Amino acid sequence: MHIDVLTLFPEMISGVFDASILKKAQQNEKFSYNLVNFRDYSTNKHMKVDDYPYGGGAGMVLTPQPVFDAVDAVISVKQTKPRVILMSPQGEPYNQQKAEELSQEDHLVFICGHYEGYDERIREHLVTDEISIGDYVLTGGELAAAVVIDSIVRLLPDVLGNKASAPKDSFSTGLLEHPHYTRPADFRGMKVPDILLSGDHAKIAEWRRIESLKRTCERRQDLIDEQDLSDEAKQILGKK
Ligand code: ADE
Repeated sequence: MHIDVLTLFPEMISGVFDASILKKAQQNEKFSYNLVNFRDYSTNKHMKVDDYPYGGGAGMVLTPQPVFDAVDAVISVKQTKPRVILMSPQGEPYNQQKAEELSQEDHLVFICGHYEGYDERIREHLVTDEISIGDYVLTGGELAAAVVIDSIVRLLPDVLGNKASAPKDSFSTGLLEHPHYTRPADFRGMKVPDILLSGDHAKIAEWRRIESLKRTCERRQDLIDEQDLSDEAKQILGKK
């Protein structure tokens, strides 16, 4: 996978790529990235990328020219038809399903803006997806793009050390994960549940499923509502 990020503030995002699992994934050639300062594509003599809104009003609007030209440039290098993703609080709410969908692509282009708005022609004629990471407003799209990219790269084949861990993530299964414990079995009198020390793998799997259901029910009733629960699972939750 190759990822291009169009931003006026590349330094807001570069650190994310150069640490931990994302850094290792690049070293192992699982993905590559390019930060593009679209100001470099401005044909304005002052390299301006924003202008006053037609019709008046507060704030500046990102002009289409530098953004269209920067996207044309990254497409012509890679010769692909990438998904072009606009980061915006007006976008579709991001979730694990979308991360899984985007992780199947070969080339992604992220557009991060910092102004009051984007010229609507960017949305209408350039962008394939518009994503919001939540109902709050950030100073720009960079942090949101970093969140989305991190969640996609960890799903790429052979990026996570433990192959089993991605499919069991919270949300991949539609439920939150069960509690985890490690050594010691007794820490300051706080004990690990006996079942996890029993060595009975079938019983442990059942305990985990029940705990996962209970936790999801307590914390995220909305996820339970989306599930097609078995009668057995409904009974567990009813008994809780
Ligand atoms: N840009 C500003 N706020 C944002 C949000 N919540 N999600 C995505 N991009 C944004």
